[in-house]
Amino acid sequence: MRAEPCILNPVSELMTARLAVLISGNGSNLQALIDAIRYRALDAEIVVVASNRKDAFGLQRATKAGIPTRYHPLKPYRDAGKDRQTYDADLARLLNEYRPDWVVLAGWMHILSDVFLRHFPYRVVNLHPALPGQFPGANAVAEALAAFQAGAIKKTGAMVHLVPDEEVDAGPVIASEEVPIYPHDTVETLANRIHQTEHGLLVQALRRLIEGD
Ligand code: GAR
Repeated sequence: MRAEPCILNPVSELMTARLAVLISGNGSNLQALIDAIRYRALDAEIVVVASNRKDAFGLQRATKAGIPTRYHPLKPYRDAGKDRQTYDADLARLLNEYRPDWVVLAGWMHILSDVFLRHFPYRVVNLHPALPGQFPGANAVAEALAAFQAGAIKKTGAMVHLVPDEEVDAGPVIASEEVPIYPHDTVETLANRIHQTEHGLLVQALRRLIEGD
């Protein structure tokens, strides 16, 4: 009796989305993606993790999961008098080696210029620890806490959005979720609570994008 040949399903093969993930730090959201893919909650493959910081713990998380990593620092460009556009063009070239369908900014703390974005039109996804239209930039959690303490807001949140242009932490929103703020909160306790929300939100938003909902 002849054994049946093992045929991979070409459709599901085609549907597995290729993600390039950019990080600058701890990478807890990267870990959420790694875990969601491992437990088949997300039909995706992380094809590369790139960081602008060598000591970003997320690089270790990626290596542990068997994912290729790349370190792309800005300092050598600055030291050589090269501009940010050159850095961004090289970053795009580096990521394109891995043919990503989506570029996910999961705690990437550099603003990306059009030189980068035009390589991935409506294919760059950013995670930000605030509700749409609130507290853009690197200090969103501290600014939300200060606004709460001043009586200006009652809650904050997290969002995932597309990055069509150079505007910071803005663009078509894929998913967002509110997070409560409590009077005894510190920046650390609030950041931790936001992170817990982000981990599910990022997976949910990517699933939506990948499945085309
Ligand atoms: C996340 O809270 C993300 O929203 C934020 O960096 C953190 C990274 O955490 N991004 C921004 O502030 C972008 N403006 P992680 O390294 O543990 O995933």
